[in-house]
Amino acid sequence: VNIVDTLLGEHAVMYAHFDFLEQTLPGLGDLAEIRVLGTVLAAVVQSHSTVEDDLLFAALEEPLGAVSPALVGMRMMHEDIDRGFAEFEQAEDATAAREALLGVIGLARQHFLGEEESLFPTARRVLDGETLGRLGAAWAARRSVLRNPIDDWTSATHGA
Ligand SMILES: [Fe+2]
Ligand SMILES: [Fe+2]
Repeated sequence: VNIVDTLLGEHAVMYAHFDFLEQTLPGLGDLAEIRVLGTVLAAVVQSHSTVEDDLLFAALEEPLGAVSPALVGMRMMHEDIDRGFAEFEQAEDATAAREALLGVIGLARQHFLGEEESLFPTARRVLDGETLGRLGAAWAARRSVLRNPIDDWTSATHGA
């Protein structure tokens, strides 16, 4: 499995999570409840950033250079998102917590779009298929999912 496809899949699931929170948060007034929702989101988003940093971004250092503006910019955005979650944790009332959390979601949306429009297409261009597949296998191991060879999917019988 290609690492870029797996990371896109993670974005897709997080978009559903973002949509839910953007719809739900404006109606919530309980700080404890908002904190729980935000803490869950932070765990998911930060785990995604870590997997990206460790696998895809690390592999891009060789073809792009460690100080490539594209890589440095994306890593800075991961740090901005982390700072946003830290601010959220420090919010002392429901309004501040809600605003901080919606702010991080906005930041994450912007960042994901940047990856989808720019860094991911670059990765597909500068890394060969074998490397993208090897990174995908490392992703599967990290995420504890079984890897099903494409052959198995296409040869499986699906009912009538
Ligand atoms: Fe990212
Ligand atoms: Fe991402």
